[in-house]
Amino acid sequence: MTKPIGILLLLFAWTTAAAYEYDPDIGEEINEECAGCHSEFGQGGKGGEYPRIAGQPVDYLIRQLHLFQNRERPNLPMVEHVDQRQLPEEDMFQIAQYLNRIELKTKLPPVDDKAPGFDAYARLLESKQIMQVPRAPGNFEKGRRLYRRECAICHGREGWGREKKGVPMLAGQYTSYLWRQVKKFRNRIRLHDEDEPDDELLDDFTDEELRDIFAYLSIVDD
Ligand code: HEC
Ligand code: HEC
Repeated sequence: MTKPIGILLLLFAWTTAAAYEYDPDIGEEINEECAGCHSEFGQGGKGGEYPRIAGQPVDYLIRQLHLFQNRERPNLPMVEHVDQRQLPEEDMFQIAQYLNRIELKTKLPPVDDKAPGFDAYARLLESKQIMQVPRAPGNFEKGRRLYRRECAICHGREGWGREKKGVPMLAGQYTSYLWRQVKKFRNRIRLHDEDEPDDELLDDFTDEELRDIFAYLSIVDD
């Protein structure tokens, strides 16, 4: 075998070994630990103390888990759940794939509970996968215009994030949680745009403007 081909084969073996294969059972098992705070279907809880994590882009989820693990994004409640022993690289991949695939509904479709074949348990499960953000105060119309002009390019036209670019959804997320992150960005506890750490994207917005944007985002899922 000539040398270059040998090296190519070695490289091939290395890259395929590095890529994990998604296994929903492993994802589900890891999620049992996350569910203690983020709820069974990643819908979050306690009015936004625990954010929704279901349906976020895979790359975004993995990136945040790394940031928590390396203490670059402070998150005390999660510290013991993300250290390398608790959450090795492959588990991050598995849980991110698992959460990304959860589709939360915003409303429960009406059914006839007297009809034959009505399955109360299935209905209960379905009702747990509902998440609708309560309407937040503010001027929706102004918020929509500002959002479209200033945020949509990264967070998507209607705020549902961008999978390929790994940008998180803002629609479908608790308003109180979004505000908490704004404060962290403004205080540089979190970086909004890693490429421009000194130029925080939200510095030019007043609280009133953000209130309007969040009001708009809170009705996108109505
Ligand atoms: C003890 C409670 C707790 C547990 C258990 C927990 N988390 Fe969290 N998680 C939090 C809190 C609180 C935040 C919000 C931190 C903040 O305000 O910045 C958070 C934030 C996150 C975020 C960032 C969300 C975003 O939109 O920025 C991700 C992703 C996340 N958690 C994933 C997980 C995963 C995966 C697990 C299971 C391996 C897990 N968490 C277990 C409490 C918890
Ligand atoms: C240049 C692209 C870009 C623009 C423009 C942008 N964002 Fe972001 N935003 C991001 C990225 C990327 C993240 C994730 C950062 C990370 O990885 O921690 C983010 C995260 C956020 C978060 C935290 C979400 C969470 O789940 O933790 C909030 C809140 C937010 N952006 C609000 C806004 C608002 C409001 C606007 C418009 C005024 C805006 N962003 C404009 C790229 C952008």
